[in-house]
Amino acid sequence: MKITFYGQNSLGIEVSGTHLLVDPFISGNPLSKDKIDISSLQADYILLTHAHQDHVLDAEAIAKKTGATIVSNFEIAMYYQERGIKVHPMNHGGSWKFEFGKVKYVIAHHTSSFADGTYGGQPGGFVIEGEHKNIYIAGDTALTMDMKLIPMQTKLDLAILPIGDNFTMGVEDAIIASDFVACDKVLGVHYDTFGFIEIDHSAAKKKFYDADKDLMLLGIGESIEL
Ligand code: NI
Ligand code: MN
Repeated sequence: MKITFYGQNSLGIEVSGTHLLVDPFISGNPLSKDKIDISSLQADYILLTHAHQDHVLDAEAIAKKTGATIVSNFEIAMYYQERGIKVHPMNHGGSWKFEFGKVKYVIAHHTSSFADGTYGGQPGGFVIEGEHKNIYIAGDTALTMDMKLIPMQTKLDLAILPIGDNFTMGVEDAIIASDFVACDKVLGVHYDTFGFIEIDHSAAKKKFYDADKDLMLLGIGESIEL
């Protein structure tokens, strides 16, 4: 499984020859827009955690160019289906076996509305069980006890957690979340994009290190292999 960071919560995931794109927000991200050309991105599926603009901005354009299927909660799926895009609607606690692996839509504590005010259902995260490697994409969320349910069914190899604070968990809560999901290997996301979520990278890494955990922060376009 190869994971590429495109800024904010945008991720490219290659698993079993399938290309997943998570929360594409690139053309409007001052950190990403000059580095990543959205027309160059491959996508068979676009996974959307919730409807906020910093997660869905480029979803429609990329889905229309690639023919990708949007996977999200029911309300978000219907929003894109009305725009002529293929969708796979899910809701919290539900799993589906795709050809690349199993996806579960899990609880996140946050809000979810489109930029035009349309209701975006309840926000979520994804647990992806693929090719011998399992990951958790928390999406935008507060620290929540529901995270403790995840390791009861899935042994994670990587937890992708927001660390920017203000709108989501900050570093201290993300360290507790890493305990809750029983995964010490964390990829930090949702930081630095706006003034409200700027973080001190070395201080964040040191806090994880002091808790015997590993926080990875990738540059825009940088990848890791699991
Ligand atoms: Ni959000
Ligand atoms: Mn967000």
